[in-house]
Amino acid sequence: MPYHETSPQRRGRLLTSTARLTLDPAFLIGPVEPRLFGSFVEHMGRCVYTGIFEPGHPLADADGFRTDVLELTRELGVTLVRYPGGNFVSNYRWEDGVGPVEERPARLDLAWRSLEDNSFGLNEFMAWAARAGIEPMMALNLGTRGVAEALELVEYANYPGGTRLSDLRRAHGVDKPHDIRLWCLGNELDGPWQMGHKTAREYGRLAAETARALRRLDPGVSLVACGSSNSGMPTFGQWEAEVLESAYDLVDYISLHAYYDPADGDVDSFLASGADMEHMIRSIAATADHVGAKLRSRRKIKLSFDEWNVWYQSRFDGEASLEWAEHPRLIENVYDVTDAVVVGSLLITLLRNADRVGVACQAQLANVIAPIMTEPGGPAWRQSIFHPFALTARHARGQVLRVEPECASVSTDKYGEAPAIWATATLDDAGEITLFVVNRDRHGPCELRVALPQGLRPAEHLELADDDLSAVNSAAAPDRVAPRPGTGLRMDGRDATLTLPPVSWTMIRFAPQE
Ligand code: AHR
Repeated sequence: MPYHETSPQRRGRLLTSTARLTLDPAFLIGPVEPRLFGSFVEHMGRCVYTGIFEPGHPLADADGFRTDVLELTRELGVTLVRYPGGNFVSNYRWEDGVGPVEERPARLDLAWRSLEDNSFGLNEFMAWAARAGIEPMMALNLGTRGVAEALELVEYANYPGGTRLSDLRRAHGVDKPHDIRLWCLGNELDGPWQMGHKTAREYGRLAAETARALRRLDPGVSLVACGSSNSGMPTFGQWEAEVLESAYDLVDYISLHAYYDPADGDVDSFLASGADMEHMIRSIAATADHVGAKLRSRRKIKLSFDEWNVWYQSRFDGEASLEWAEHPRLIENVYDVTDAVVVGSLLITLLRNADRVGVACQAQLANVIAPIMTEPGGPAWRQSIFHPFALTARHARGQVLRVEPECASVSTDKYGEAPAIWATATLDDAGEITLFVVNRDRHGPCELRVALPQGLRPAEHLELADDDLSAVNSAAAPDRVAPRPGTGLRMDGRDATLTLPPVSWTMIRFAPQE
């Protein structure tokens, strides 16, 4: 029976399908860009306050940074963090968050109807970033503010000294410039919920003018223009085209945002989220290339997937329903095994498109739809989605290989037929190949045959799967959901065969034989 057909026995329940794929070092997509393993810290709910920053916590350092969260951030393998929003940034005055803490004003954050005391701001974030070992990605307010304020922030952050704002930074105790390379030109300005929402024409002009001025101030910056807030926006595609028509030669990236929700119990569509993400990436790459062709430009605009994750958005009543509060518990989704498998598949998708996606940020880092959870004054722990991120960030090294499984498909209401097996692989300098693979089929396991290059043998085999797909981690049971050693891997000549449980994420390292 051909591998892509489903066995007749599967008309019953939980019977095995078959699939195969080839790992060939000659089929390269491109290098693994470390910036693909980004995260996001927004002044929202408890991401900053009682998340990464909690003065007085027993494990806080002298600056109030939670060292337990810092350790988990390093273990997660995050390389870059976007800050300070999100919707928050579109009504934010960066000046409120610098200088002596006792002089900083309290403000109303209109995005999340929260009280912001500004005790954490740019310089605290940069000190935290150095301790976490991550690159900062800073977002500018192009909602309620414009070119002048963007220039002022970049002067304060990046200019060495001898001007009013660079000297102000030095007076605030930061002698050397922060030298921030990556800047977002606003956030989700196509969305009517955004403070300072704009049309594509208005935003494209503002993004272009801001970019032109910032490049004059600091020619070394990389700039991200806002793309659509999600692929369901009525202006999806058209927005990117119009914005890039104004700003093509002035920006380096266009942003994409996508959150996936197991809404209405449609698990098959939810499990196929990676296929949708790939469609979105290829649509926006094609849109950018179309504009580039019209402009006769030889530049390629890269994609910054700077917000992605699982978010039970259908359970959130919206910003307008919120009561004013100080760092309230907002969208603290508790993730289960299925969510972790979907997160693993989204990481696979980003790697599969590494030739085009140059930056990606899982939203967010702590408490707010996050891999790391904390209790104020209490412990921090890993959610289920922590694990595929940490293992992918640690082991995806070198070059991404093109991997095209031959497999059965799963019928989904939202995305039509989706391949049941979703995979990618990387090849490092030592000749080791790591395969990342998801079985999206919840109706049965899949026997996967992997054709390997000469001389490679399995070195590590880990699996995230569970008989109870709704299992979660909690403060009381922080390791209930965790990767376990996979079983049943066998070699047959140069081929490896393994069984992928239904709804599972698997990682296998194949190392050169001694
Ligand atoms: O990550 C939560 C919110 O989702 C962000 O503030 C916003 O940019 C997006 O809509």
